[in-house]
Amino acid sequence: MNFAIPESLQREHEALHERLRQATQAGGEVGEAAKALARLMHPHFVKEDQIALPPLGLLAALARGESPEEMAGVLELTDRLRAELPQMLAEHQAIVTALDALREAAGRAGRSDIVAFAEDLVEHARTEEEVMYPAAVLVGEVVRQRLDARRPAPASP
Ligand SMILES: [Fe+2]
Ligand SMILES: [Fe+2]
Repeated sequence: MNFAIPESLQREHEALHERLRQATQAGGEVGEAAKALARLMHPHFVKEDQIALPPLGLLAALARGESPEEMAGVLELTDRLRAELPQMLAEHQAIVTALDALREAAGRAGRSDIVAFAEDLVEHARTEEEVMYPAAVLVGEVVRQRLDARRPAPASP
């Protein structure tokens, strides 16, 4: 089964990536701050695309009550996410610190578009912490419970 990132989230990530790329081309201290941020963001984005967001592609099917056997494959992703969650939250802290520096530099340079980008990205990280990551972990929980419930009870001695 193919666990695809919901298109809306995929587009949001792509849009943020594009605004980050543009900010790195600002030159001066704004460009430098954006490049420092990009170095932190890149491995984080890759990890999200691998383990944090694909499980969310199952949300709608799970909410409809479906639980095909092939969903079991998602457990590998959600188990990794659960294990790596503390690290990913620590990455958010480092990213938010870098975003503060970018926002201040952009403010000094009169780049209100980059100030707005920095604020949007802070909000994005907050949404992931409050909604997306916990939802992805819950997808794993629900899939595991439904697959367990389906297994025949062990024969009594
Ligand atoms: Fe993200
Ligand atoms: Fe994130």
